[in-house]
Amino acid sequence: MNKNVRAKIASLVPYKVSTVNYRWALNANESPINLFSDWQDEIIAEMAKESINLYPSSNCDSLRDMLSEINGCLPENIICGNGSDEIIKMITEVFVDQQDKVIIPTPTFSEYFTSVTVAGGEIVPVKPKTDFTFDVDAIIQAANQNQAKLIFLCVPNNPTGLAMTDSDIARIIDETEAIIAIDEAYYEFYGKTSRLTALINERVIIMRTLSKAFGVAGIRLGYAMAHPDTIDLIQRVRMPYNISALTQAVARVALQNIDQINSITQIMIDERKRIVDQLRHLDLEIFDSHTNFILYRSDKADELLTAFEKNRIGVRVYPKDPSLKNCIRISLGTKEANDAVVAVFKEVVNNV
Ligand SMILES: Cc1ncc(COP(=O)(O)O)c(C=O)c1O
Repeated sequence: MNKNVRAKIASLVPYKVSTVNYRWALNANESPINLFSDWQDEIIAEMAKESINLYPSSNCDSLRDMLSEINGCLPENIICGNGSDEIIKMITEVFVDQQDKVIIPTPTFSEYFTSVTVAGGEIVPVKPKTDFTFDVDAIIQAANQNQAKLIFLCVPNNPTGLAMTDSDIARIIDETEAIIAIDEAYYEFYGKTSRLTALINERVIIMRTLSKAFGVAGIRLGYAMAHPDTIDLIQRVRMPYNISALTQAVARVALQNIDQINSITQIMIDERKRIVDQLRHLDLEIFDSHTNFILYRSDKADELLTAFEKNRIGVRVYPKDPSLKNCIRISLGTKEANDAVVAVFKEVVNNV
């Protein structure tokens, strides 16, 4: 390795994505439905409003207008990012200096760890309770003992699918002095939000994405909602023109079609229940999901994995995280894909 590389960067591992050509890729919590053909005319109409020879709206003006209307806030409460991955990175850049402590309740989404490491901060992981629910007392204690600058809360959490209650979130806000960044990537499948707190409390930031329920992971659009003074801080590290004209155009179309998105989301929530109902009598631990994926735990995880591979179903496992031993995370897919998932479980796992 080149001797000039920063030690913290040398310790990182590049993000790897599976290139297997699955029949059903249920490993990235994407939407199984591609709405391009439904939206084609609207997309062309919105793209025609953009001048692709010019730089795009630097601050995504019309997109922020639409997002603020949907969320009942002002455009000044919103900043857009190239996926919520970029929002996570920007928030970390604003609040985390070398050696600053950041609380990350585990297990959770990997980008929090990467962004804090790149910023030179120190991660203070906080283990969950044995049932994977958040250990709120431990989070508060760790934040105060370490004078943490930032706490990442993923609600509902990836990969467990579990949510933290509103009162627990309120306790963490009230009983610590850190910035609380609440990742609501799966909000639409859950329905509860800390948005109203974020609009008035400068220490609270909500992160959202169009990659999950809105079904446009390919365009890379995430956003943060917070008090205007907090948004102003994040604006200082945002790269000019961070969101392409094409992304802004397609994102506007997705938001125009929010009714269609809401009905697809409801179908996914119904599918989630249908899958769990069919599997609950099996000797299989199923974590209570508030998202578009379900986490399962089974002693037969290896056999299950082989069976999913054989059926060309892409699923997510965590070989490097001992806390997630025997766990498999599977996104909700089309009805056909979900039936295939259920069939594999029924074939491999016995009845209780
Ligand atoms: C909790 C969480 N936050 C953020 C992201 C990244 O979303 P985006 O596609 O907007 O970068 C994901 C993606 O899986 C996620 O699970």
